[in-house]
Amino acid sequence: MPILLAPMEGLLDFVLRDVLTRVGGIDRCVSEFIRVTQTQLPDKVFYRIVPELHHGGRTFAGVPVRPQLLGSDPACMADNAARLAQLGPFGIDLNFGCPAKVVNRHGGGAALLQEPEQIFKIVSAVRKAVPAIMPVSAKMRLGFNDDTRAEENALAMQAGGASELVVHGRTKANGYRPPAYWNRIADIGQVVSIPVTANGEIWTVADANLCRKESGCDSIMLGRGMVSNPGLALEINGQSFQHKGIAWHELLVSVYDFWELVSAQLEPQQQAGRLKQWLNLLRRQYSPAQLAYDQICPLTQARQIDNWFAQQGFFRSERSENLNVIT
Ligand SMILES: Cc1cc2nc3c(=O)[nH]c(=O)nc-3n(C[C@H](O)[C@H](O)[C@H](O)COP(=O)(O)O)c2cc1C
Repeated sequence: MPILLAPMEGLLDFVLRDVLTRVGGIDRCVSEFIRVTQTQLPDKVFYRIVPELHHGGRTFAGVPVRPQLLGSDPACMADNAARLAQLGPFGIDLNFGCPAKVVNRHGGGAALLQEPEQIFKIVSAVRKAVPAIMPVSAKMRLGFNDDTRAEENALAMQAGGASELVVHGRTKANGYRPPAYWNRIADIGQVVSIPVTANGEIWTVADANLCRKESGCDSIMLGRGMVSNPGLALEINGQSFQHKGIAWHELLVSVYDFWELVSAQLEPQQQAGRLKQWLNLLRRQYSPAQLAYDQICPLTQARQIDNWFAQQGFFRSERSENLNVIT
């Protein structure tokens, strides 16, 4: 029962991917989108967003990462995919779901769900541009304003040569509001012959089970649920003790790893914000994260945050040698 980690631009970057895949239970990741406009991107852009490409396309825990491209011009997407393919990724994913206005205005992301012919052109151009053994997958929402063309779009992806699909069970108009329409993912699974992964609103083991039942998909992709409960994939696989997930004191070790990686990898002005962003999501599932969030929120300097961790028993000198910094 494969479990994928969702792409989440601005939230789930290589640092959090590293930490979450170390916790365990994830079989594969899709990176946040790499936006393709009218130019051939330099290699450094691919490496900046997916530094795992320096390490055989895997996180330090050994989990494969599939970079995701977002764009609307078939030729330009093909050129960039061809170059990316030479960097040795674990396949290439294509984004047909981004709801951002700036992306949709330029005809990319979810806006493409109004144009299945264009989707077909993009997928087939990318498919032809990369080696035949390299998987090309696609991630879609159910539609733009409504879901009436969901099956048509999925079929266009399949006809273009996509080897698998991830379906986020909502339209662009639905935004991120619950529910996710897992039953509509089942409808897509009925018309395509390639594997389909279900995504959207999986926060608990019970959600995962119900999603699998309603979508007819064995394979699921976890997004915000995994960020707010990093033990979720292990719980779903029945690998955590009594299915109870991870205790806060264990998770705090991962939070400290995250802080050390963020401090080493990101610009100083981004560091505190990234920690607060994750704690903000963790407090949905962990009540002690609320206290940590309240105490860390007023802190702006890395030194102050180091002191907070020192009060919890974490010291840079002791742990940093255990961390593999990925660049
Ligand atoms: C902050 C944020 C950024 C996202 N960025 C991407 C992205 O880069 N590519 C993509 O295909 N989906 C992106 N998504 C959508 C997620 O991959 C996923 O489909 C969505 O969050 C539903 O899953 P969930 O309910 O488990 O979170 C993003 C979602 C969020 C909340």
